[in-house]
Amino acid sequence: MQTRLQEMKETAIEQIRQAADAQQLQDLRVKYLGKKGELTELLRGMGSLSAEERPVVGQLVNEVRGALEAAFAAKQDELEQALLSAKLASQSIDVTLPGRPIPTGTMHPLSRIIEELEDIFIGLGFEIAEGPEVELDHFNFEMLNLPKDHPARDMQDSFYITDEILMRTHTSPVQARTMLKKGGKTPVKIICPGKVYRRDDDDATHSHQFTQIEGLVVDKGIGMSDLKGTLLSFARQMFGENQQIRLRPSFFPFTEPSAEVDLQCFNCGGSGCRVCKHTGWIEILGSGMVHPRVLEMAGYDPQEVSGFAFGMGVERIAMLKYGVEDIRHFYTNDVRFLRQFNRG
Ligand code: DAH
Repeated sequence: MQTRLQEMKETAIEQIRQAADAQQLQDLRVKYLGKKGELTELLRGMGSLSAEERPVVGQLVNEVRGALEAAFAAKQDELEQALLSAKLASQSIDVTLPGRPIPTGTMHPLSRIIEELEDIFIGLGFEIAEGPEVELDHFNFEMLNLPKDHPARDMQDSFYITDEILMRTHTSPVQARTMLKKGGKTPVKIICPGKVYRRDDDDATHSHQFTQIEGLVVDKGIGMSDLKGTLLSFARQMFGENQQIRLRPSFFPFTEPSAEVDLQCFNCGGSGCRVCKHTGWIEILGSGMVHPRVLEMAGYDPQEVSGFAFGMGVERIAMLKYGVEDIRHFYTNDVRFLRQFNRG
């Protein structure tokens, strides 16, 4: 019996080595180790052995089983490796094939303009300030020299939430908030970009929600020339280095004097065209010297310090810069419109 076992082991191992594929290997496994396999058959024959022989043969059977299992495992490994190598060899990857384009989103033109504006003003030494969109009447109007029943409140039709709370109609309340936070210290030099809300009917140039950027500078000895110099520098960085601006007298309750700032028409260079309605100039923002009452209410002595402020509509700047003729394009999110701003 021992010799038969030895022989079986040798033939089996030889056959396993020769197996050409997984199927042949599986067949051999059944043939030797299966329920009706040769090794199992031999085990059945152990009943006829003497008591002395039994443990010796039993141990040998276990050894043979172990050797066969090891041989099966090694062969299986070998076959799998061979399969993998064959697969790798047959499938080559063409690294020169162009990739499939993955469409990505693009930065919204308004975000782009806001970033550009922020970069320009940060370059001029300004800091970015923020304030709430749901605002107190107190900051939106009162602190800006617009007491209740002031006729100028009509310039900004508002969405009121309660008698004292509204959606801010402009970013100017951030002026008062910033000055109060500074506690009378100078210099104050901030811009504040943000959303504002007005009870307007939407059309090509009006939107019930739009974006403004507020600017405020307060320090000793600030004059109208600082206002003009700052805004000229901004206009040239935004619209081209040969830009001219002009200041036109205007009225805002929170500035005195107040000025509307016009940009020389970049379309016709000032000679008059459709874009500038044949005036040669395009209005881009409101500004002025901070009203002494506003400084006082926010804790500054108007005898000691002065300041200038300005506010502009971001959509308007974007429309002028990119030649967009309808403000609603910024909010309807037509990808054909938005994609045009994807310049990488
Ligand atoms: N808040 C004004 C508006 O929404 C814009 C403005 C004008 C802001 C003059 C200013 C300013 O700070 O000085 O129409």
